[in-house]
Amino acid sequence: MTITEQPLTPAAAELSQVRRMLTLRQDVKVAAEGDDVELTHPWGRQRVHALGAPTVHRLLALGAGPVDAEALAGDREAARLLSLLGRFPYLVTSILDDPLTGPLATAVPIARSASTPGAPDLGGTAVVLSRFAYLRRLPDGPSDGGGGTIGQGCVMESPLAPYRVTLHQPAAAAFVAALTTPRTAAEAAALAGLPEQSGAALAALLAGTGFMEPAAVGAAPELPAADPPLWDFHDLLFHSRSRAGRHDYTSGGVFAHQDVPHPPALPGAGSNEDGPGIDLPVPDWDEVTARDPRLTEVLEGRRSIRTYAETPVTLEQLAELLYRAARVRQVIPRDPSSPNSYDAIDRPYPAGGATGELEIYLSVAACEGLPTGVYRYDAAAHRLQPRRWHGPADEAAFRELLTAAWRATNCTVDPQVLLTVTSRFGRLSWKYSQIAYALTLKHVGVLYQTLYLVATAMGLAPCGLGSGDTDAAARALGLDWTSESSVGEFLIGSRPASGSGSLPQGFCDIVDTMREQG
Ligand SMILES: Cc1cc2nc3c(=O)[nH]c(=O)nc-3n(C[C@H](O)[C@H](O)[C@H](O)COP(=O)(O)O)c2cc1C
Repeated sequence: MTITEQPLTPAAAELSQVRRMLTLRQDVKVAAEGDDVELTHPWGRQRVHALGAPTVHRLLALGAGPVDAEALAGDREAARLLSLLGRFPYLVTSILDDPLTGPLATAVPIARSASTPGAPDLGGTAVVLSRFAYLRRLPDGPSDGGGGTIGQGCVMESPLAPYRVTLHQPAAAAFVAALTTPRTAAEAAALAGLPEQSGAALAALLAGTGFMEPAAVGAAPELPAADPPLWDFHDLLFHSRSRAGRHDYTSGGVFAHQDVPHPPALPGAGSNEDGPGIDLPVPDWDEVTARDPRLTEVLEGRRSIRTYAETPVTLEQLAELLYRAARVRQVIPRDPSSPNSYDAIDRPYPAGGATGELEIYLSVAACEGLPTGVYRYDAAAHRLQPRRWHGPADEAAFRELLTAAWRATNCTVDPQVLLTVTSRFGRLSWKYSQIAYALTLKHVGVLYQTLYLVATAMGLAPCGLGSGDTDAAARALGLDWTSESSVGEFLIGSRPASGSGSLPQGFCDIVDTMREQG
């Protein structure tokens, strides 16, 4: 954003008298019964007894619309109301209103942990915007529960702030942009074209609701040093938004997208798929159960193995691994009488909502019985669908994937077979809001462990990978990355003779040592 200096006319600057108004979140219901009130809100319900009729009356007025905070100072009833609001700060919305230009900013509490926003007197102290704060437009939709301002302004949020602040005027957003560099409120106000008094009030609101940091150590002791240094911006945001408690967005299995069809349980043919596919051998139950080590031996013997035998893994071994770890055991048909119902998927590994959104693609560099190339695992038919290469770009994309996997192992493993795990996100986000991506990553974890255990039981060399290239995978696998893309990578190879077949015959731990240390 470019900020240009827009000095106010002296008359406008003098007249500006920004006021702090208070109201309740829009979704707070106040039911009065004599001297008592019942407050119903997103975090529960409380009854307050013996409040007194004048205070009940003022509380109802506050729920009906903004009241000047200054009018709440003075008499006994006002003091009672303020004390009540102090007990429920997470229900109280603050608005900065300029009688000349209209509302400047609204701070809506979004978490039960929100306390009454302080109004630190920053004076001439320089402050800077928290590196976790961001501005965005809320999508159109029903009420935001707070100021009813969805689609009418730009909102500022931060995983560290228990408030959402709507900036109603472009100058307020310019003020925030000016504070991406350490500045005093007066300097930022001058840059944004706001009266100095509005700048001071806005800086105090932003500082008091958790969006500002002191520009230098010890510079503004009333502000929390709110920068957890080990967190990346997106990680802290993802963490705070994919669990309840630090936001007020509707979250969980809320079926927000019933207006669009649920993506099918089983994916259709992918792009560039060639011919009828390769039907994989189905393992024999008696043979597998007769040769399998015991669960405890497998769990205790599981290791990430990054060296391979000379002879590569075979097609039969890959087929058994995929069948035992990742096939579709069953499609459980939806109940047509329920709009929330969808075809569920039963696999050897668990998944929230039995959504079965994960797919597996194989990039085969060396496998006995399977030509080099890219294949999609059709988990219901237990079949490999080869992807046809149209030209050098397709083969280059395949090499790019293998190189990324080699790099992920610190350039130690020349992959035999790379499994790329993709997610068909819509299967989850049709049902789950806020938590869909977190869920898919959890599913990747359970799939990894299942692959690790089956590969260990089979005497193969497994290694999960923690990084992958979304665009390279989209190129190599022919995917539109926003609807299906890579979320995990896993290497499989033949296990070298040294150390193979020697699963542990006892537990290994540090329990005694730790107990001796107290
Ligand atoms: C989610 C996940 C990501 C991993 N990422 C990598 C990786 O990128 N490169 C690698 O060489 N190993 C990777 N590993 C393997 C770990 O390094 C390994 O599990 C860890 O060192 C413990 O060793 P162990 O598996 O032999 O018990 C990953 C494992 C998991 C579960």
